Amino acid sequence: MAEAAKSQRYAVVTGANKGVGFATVRQLASNGVLVVLTARDEKRGLEAVDKLKEFGLSDLVFFHQLDFGKLDILVNNAGVGGTIVDPEAMRAAAASGLGKEGVEVNWSELITQTYELAEECVKSNYFGAKKMTKALLPFLQLSNTPRIINLTSTMAALKLWPNKRSM
Ligand SMILES: NC(=O)c1ccc[n+]([C@@H]2O[C@H](COP(=O)([O-])OP(=O)(O)OC[C@H]3O[C@@H](n4cnc5c(N)ncnc54)[C@H](OP(=O)(O)O)[C@@H]3O)[C@@H](O)[C@H]2O)c1
Repeated sequence: MAEAAKSQRYAVVTGANKGVGFATVRQLASNGVLVVLTARDEKRGLEAVDKLKEFGLSDLVFFHQLDFGKLDILVNNAGVGGTIVDPEAMRAAAASGLGKEGVEVNWSELITQTYELAEECVKSNYFGAKKMTKALLPFLQLSNTPRIINLTSTMAALKLWPNKRSM
């Protein structure tokens, strides 16, 4: 690999046509990282790359091309919430003190869970990230500073952080 290519850092961000993934691509490219923006829908992916032109980042962002010899950063971002959230009920609950100490939350009134959504969630959020990692591991192993970032939420935590009272 040429010296310039060796010093260049490369990243892959999944589900990057919108949301957190899109913002992650923008941030990485703004810091000089060459980013492969991936999306399951080609049109949405190409539109996202187009949008980044507005920020002058088009030279550092490519859609779904993996034609370089190493990878430094893999961001496993693609995923779904796996539930149906009632936005009105959530807003009302937030207004009435949801999340504040001593306020009980009745999650079943705010969030609907189904077998199909849970299945889709495990497929994308767990097996999707696992497959991407497995496929790109050989490229990551060529980097001096390999990083894998898995997007998650407190819902996926096996152990919750100790709250302030027990610290
Ligand atoms: N936003 C939050 O408050 C929050 C909180 C906790 C965790 N997270 C996690 O952070 C990540 C990004 O969230 P976000 O709010 O930015 O979500 P988002 O705006 O809904 O974007 C999700 C991205 O993932 C893609 N995706 C969904 N299912 C996929 C699948 N089966 N295969 C390939 N791509 C798939 C979507 O593609 P399409 O556009 O084609 O649908 C989209 O590009 C997710 O993993 C989410 O679980 C988000």
